[in-house]
Amino acid sequence: MDTRKPLIAGNWKMFKTVAEAVQTASKLASLCQDLTSDSDREVMIAPPFTALSSVHGVIEGAASIHMGAQNMFYEKQGAYTGEISPDMVLSTGCTHVIIGHSERRQYFNEQDETINQKTAAAIKAGLVPILCVGETEKQRESEETFSVLDKQIRIGLKGFSVDELELLVLAYEPVWAIGTGKTATSGQAQEVHSFLRNQLEKNYSNVLANSVRILYGGSVKPDNISELMNMPDVDGVLVGGASLSADTFSQIVHY
Ligand code: 13P
Repeated sequence: MDTRKPLIAGNWKMFKTVAEAVQTASKLASLCQDLTSDSDREVMIAPPFTALSSVHGVIEGAASIHMGAQNMFYEKQGAYTGEISPDMVLSTGCTHVIIGHSERRQYFNEQDETINQKTAAAIKAGLVPILCVGETEKQRESEETFSVLDKQIRIGLKGFSVDELELLVLAYEPVWAIGTGKTATSGQAQEVHSFLRNQLEKNYSNVLANSVRILYGGSVKPDNISELMNMPDVDGVLVGGASLSADTFSQIVHY
């Protein structure tokens, strides 16, 4: 039983002004007109916070293009200068939120415990959490990949019931492959995705493990997407640099 519809997601990171984001999103919507909500794949873009409302205006009619935030805070509201709440994210038209991206972990000191609170807040708000995990080059070289990933999902998903994790999407993004041009081979991606699925089965249930989509991220391009998507446990991709151009991202979407 495999009901995992491929999700092709673009993370625009800290790129694009409102005008640039609107232009890219409109072009993408026209390049993806062939996709409908019944299509065999879903698309998601995560523009910066400042452009979310405007981008929503241009993709609203495009049934298969969803929108996500790149991060959010877990509190409902309060004196947290500079932060964005789940309700604020929802109010822009987002249905998804990326949580625990390695750049948040690396530059903003996000820990697994905080990531767990953010995941809980996303689930409570009805947002699809895209929980990112991944090892650094040093950790891979010292053969700590599986223990690092195990810890990231064990703490990141602590305290949830199987039912609460129904919407969960995991993204495996090896830190050494992000923005470096070094992609994990399809075999390396498959090995880790299969490990993550086994952990979900061990910690939760077989049904959950078989329904959670696991995306691969790290230097995904039009010329390596097909090979990655051929792997049985790769259910989509999280694309950074190559999602900034509507043409290139559309080629990835139409792999
Ligand atoms: P790149 O595709 O630029 O390597 O970035 C991957 C990523 O971090 C997506 O979240």
